[in-house]
Amino acid sequence: MAEKPVDALTEAEARAELAALAQRIAAANRAYHTEDAPEISDAEYDGLKRRNAAIEARYPALLRADSPSARVGGAVAEGFGKIRHRVPMLSLENAFTDADVTDFDDRVRNFLGHAGALAYTAEPKIDGLSLSLRYESGVLVQAATRGDGETGEDVTANARTVADIPQRVAGAPEVMEIRGEIYMAQADFAALNDRQRAAGEKIFANPRNAAAGSLRQLDAGITAARPLKFFAYTWGELSEPLAATQLGAIERLAAMGFATNPLTVLCDGPQAMLAQYRLIEAQRATLGYDIDGVVYKVNDLALQARLGFRATTPRWAIAHKFPAELAWTRLEAIDIQVGRTGALSPVARLAPVTVGGVVVSNATLHNEDYIAGRDSAGRPIRDGKDIRAGDWVQVYRAGDVIPKVADVDLSRRPADAVPYAFPETCPECGSPAIREPGDSIRRCTGGLICPAQSLEKLRHFVSRAAFDIEGLGTKQVEMFFADPDLPVKAPADIFTLAARDAANPLKKLKNRDGFGETSASKLFAAIDERRRISFERFLFALGIRHVGEVAAKDLARHYGNWPALAAAIDAAHPAALAEIAADETEAAERAAAATAGRRAEVSKARARAWADTPAEARAAWDDLLSVEGVGATLALSLVTALAPGPERAAVEALVAQLTEIAPPAARAAASPVAGLTVVFTGTLEKMTRAEAKARAEALGAKVAGSVSARTDLVVAGPGAGSKARDAERLGIRLIDEDGWLALIAGG
Ligand code: IVH
Repeated sequence: MAEKPVDALTEAEARAELAALAQRIAAANRAYHTEDAPEISDAEYDGLKRRNAAIEARYPALLRADSPSARVGGAVAEGFGKIRHRVPMLSLENAFTDADVTDFDDRVRNFLGHAGALAYTAEPKIDGLSLSLRYESGVLVQAATRGDGETGEDVTANARTVADIPQRVAGAPEVMEIRGEIYMAQADFAALNDRQRAAGEKIFANPRNAAAGSLRQLDAGITAARPLKFFAYTWGELSEPLAATQLGAIERLAAMGFATNPLTVLCDGPQAMLAQYRLIEAQRATLGYDIDGVVYKVNDLALQARLGFRATTPRWAIAHKFPAELAWTRLEAIDIQVGRTGALSPVARLAPVTVGGVVVSNATLHNEDYIAGRDSAGRPIRDGKDIRAGDWVQVYRAGDVIPKVADVDLSRRPADAVPYAFPETCPECGSPAIREPGDSIRRCTGGLICPAQSLEKLRHFVSRAAFDIEGLGTKQVEMFFADPDLPVKAPADIFTLAARDAANPLKKLKNRDGFGETSASKLFAAIDERRRISFERFLFALGIRHVGEVAAKDLARHYGNWPALAAAIDAAHPAALAEIAADETEAAERAAAATAGRRAEVSKARARAWADTPAEARAAWDDLLSVEGVGATLALSLVTALAPGPERAAVEALVAQLTEIAPPAARAAASPVAGLTVVFTGTLEKMTRAEAKARAEALGAKVAGSVSARTDLVVAGPGAGSKARDAERLGIRLIDEDGWLALIAGG
């Protein structure tokens, strides 16, 4: 039966159809998620959801309490559905000084090989939270928070209640994701807090928290009652471009009915950008909403596309932040926290003080040199003034970051204040805490015997980007860690909880405080669900120093599965030991030379260490270093952490509890150069070396500096010398720059 166009539906018909759609979509969800037996195709399902959203957009008043747009999949009862961003939502690199801004312009022009001036837009950086709005055929079908940048929360029903967000737009591309900032005006924030106070409800710390708390309401009715606003400033997926320039795109969005920031202007270079920064800063107090800086973006969208992205930030934009906010208060004590990787971090306990609208009672003191008044190279900071308990200190915070202690007022130092003695043993486990040469951080050497490290590792293990087990958050992990009957000391213990609980007739989990029959069995089910995990999450969850989400993903792509990575680590271990030995010998040689008052000779330590290392160990080490983003520091950390020993044993115990560690999807598999190792040589005429490399990597190729038997392709420009000859000798495919451009255009 042909569907009646949404525009032709009467209100009664719309109401009836929304009810029917809610039922059909719920049934499809049940079949798919709970019964694992889909009844309709994905396309049909998407069609139903789209139709539902279009009718809701036409008749917002008919929005049902059980609207399918408010939920995704089976996860209806708890929390929000998840939405995978088709184009990741990135963050911005920061600039703090004028020089940072001119450097940014230099970098952009160098990357592009562009000698003349470049135009940029400048606009306020709104202090709210970013939101992605998806329009299909001009109808708002989905709204998602940023989340971790790759997956956000489905807040469609909530976004529909925001007046600045159009439900339908005319003249838009078929698919259009518009991104911008949800924020709350200062006056609205103050009035909201007055109402909250009168009702005995939660008071928000600042407009940003209030905006976040208001948008992320499971009951969209509450969001509707909160005065949220929205500025559009960028986009995600588009079926066709909006314009040729950033400013043109923003103007087009304004014409479609989006709110755009009136202070957005075009600048012809860094001087004009800095002038606009000063202008916006001068208006900051009277804008009526919080901003924390100015964002500059390359205006030409074709150049933006060429510049592309680093792991988490675009190369074509930067946020020039306003100076941090400051306050003075008394430092009551210095505490030491021991982190996941054993780092001893000094924390200032402060007499509570308001800094830029937020009450601060803790701040970081960085490390022992910082407290002593010197930097890592031994040069004085704060004119060499040290920091002591009892001192008056200046605290500052910039944006969301952790407050820091910046300065100390010696004129108010108590007579009995004593210099702070940084502990040389771990305050948690008593193991020696040592500083590696060149490291500013002192670390506990206790490893997994240190309760603080074990607990922090567990906390990290269950965190959102890691195993993310429903019902097993920080609080529960701390509880189990200290539990004498059902202890969880290492990740593998999480997966034996159910069996141990079943085997213990007394003291069942379900009979404990905070647990019941349902919550205990739900927890066990959620744990079971995570016996299948992606390789990259698994790797990130191990909490190895320097192995963050990006590195975990790159390593997962390169090695594919855990046995392959474990074998590579074992194979590379002798090479890592040789590296460490060489580092130590070189440091000793340098120290000896310094004592003798002569210059250190070029060290032969590394060459010697390598000569004694078996070829297969060197090959495994080189292979590890060839992974994008993996340098010697990360490689050493990975190999030393996971070489056979207690930590490896803990990982293997975990692996034994898992059903599947799923290999990652191949990246950019469709690209004709994905997986190839490419060498660029000679002069490139249409792009800079940096651009060529970034582009090749974005297409899934590996870019190497020298030609070897493992090279797949050499791109040679004029003046190419020995590398081109090597390629010919080794029979490696050799093309010129135009050949390369034609090759990648084919993908
Ligand atoms: S452009 C590729 N423009 O700042 C990223 N971001 O630190 C493009 N923000 O996550 C972002 N005002 O939430 C852009 N005028 C503005 C902004 C802005 C605020 C936020 C945004 C982003 C964060 C990055």
